[in-house]
Amino acid sequence: IPSIKDCNLQDKVILLRVDFNVPIKNGEIQDNMRILRALNTIEYLMNTGAKVVIISHFGRPEGRDDNLSLKNIVKTLSQLLNKEVNFVDDCIGEKVQKVVNTMVAGDVILLENLRFYKEEEQNDLSFAQQLSSIADVYVNDAFSCSHRIHASIARITEFLPSYVGFSMQNELKYLEESISFQAKPITAIVGGAKISTKIKMLKRLAEKVDFLILGGAIANSFLSFNKVNIGKSLFQTGIDDLLHSIIEIANKNNCKIIVPEDVLVAIDSDYSVGIAKKIESISDDDVILDIGLQTLETISGVIANSKTVLWNGPIGMFEYPAFAIGTKELMNIISNFTKKGNLISVIGGGDSSSAINAAGFTDKDFTYVSTGGGAFLSWLSGDMHAKLKLF
Ligand code: 3PG
Repeated sequence: IPSIKDCNLQDKVILLRVDFNVPIKNGEIQDNMRILRALNTIEYLMNTGAKVVIISHFGRPEGRDDNLSLKNIVKTLSQLLNKEVNFVDDCIGEKVQKVVNTMVAGDVILLENLRFYKEEEQNDLSFAQQLSSIADVYVNDAFSCSHRIHASIARITEFLPSYVGFSMQNELKYLEESISFQAKPITAIVGGAKISTKIKMLKRLAEKVDFLILGGAIANSFLSFNKVNIGKSLFQTGIDDLLHSIIEIANKNNCKIIVPEDVLVAIDSDYSVGIAKKIESISDDDVILDIGLQTLETISGVIANSKTVLWNGPIGMFEYPAFAIGTKELMNIISNFTKKGNLISVIGGGDSSSAINAAGFTDKDFTYVSTGGGAFLSWLSGDMHAKLKLF
């Protein structure tokens, strides 16, 4: 993979694709891991005399949306870089070109959310061409969204000489090193709220791992498929065939799928208390928001016997203390085994990173923490290699 170290950068305009899709609440960044991980590349580009034009998506807007503007990131980015970063409230067109024309070597600007244009997600040729028109070189340092075939990730490489940044290189190096798929048994834990991307990857995962532990909305979808009443819990409909084939593949490959036996539910949107229930006793108004103690015990036993744990997505709605127990306890168990040298633990995803911080842990408590959620799963399943032209 061509690295930016292979490129002469002096006075070149670099279009740097990062993933600044960080969790924000009331305008405050909740977890800045993705920004921190991009700093090395930005600083290297600045110090080697490049003009750095940063592009990113933020959330899933439908058209222009002030709440999802990247201007929310500028202050933090400027502080972390110790340099004023200029913000342009568009990502293509004359306004951008004008600002780029005034840039000198070492300058950094941040453009507006790419997804304000629907053409970004459509991998549109003309949008990619417009993006590329202001730059000499393209650098992808956005591992966590490189499973998306979008204009700023995929199509853009048709227009500019393309390189990868240090964060992308590190992700690939550490993931490769820690997951040789040699240290067995391997357990994958998949939770979180984003169902559609993740659920498709479970097929490939079921071929490779010995235990597949499911939490969050994915587990709810399996429970509902098994005719369990999940009340008002988040789940996905219309995927029976997919779930059926995941179960079939798992059976064929001796992969044991584990779904919760008991859970904590909220009633009537009251998230202050979690009520423990066996899954057979869930009522129509219940919302499943965490795993229960029995399930935690089962999972702990599986982890104790595993040599590798790959974890993507919190197992409960950890933002609410009443539903953070499962996620926190699992982190405790996994970090303890990791520290004793008995376990390779790789955790991925923006929400997982927030959960790590919220639970009082750091990157150092695990073998590796990846910025990628869906991307991490996509990489694990071999899907990303096939998709991304840079590879
Ligand atoms: C993520 O948060 O996983 C990446 O930023 C990708 O976001 P997306 O799932 O909205 O494409």
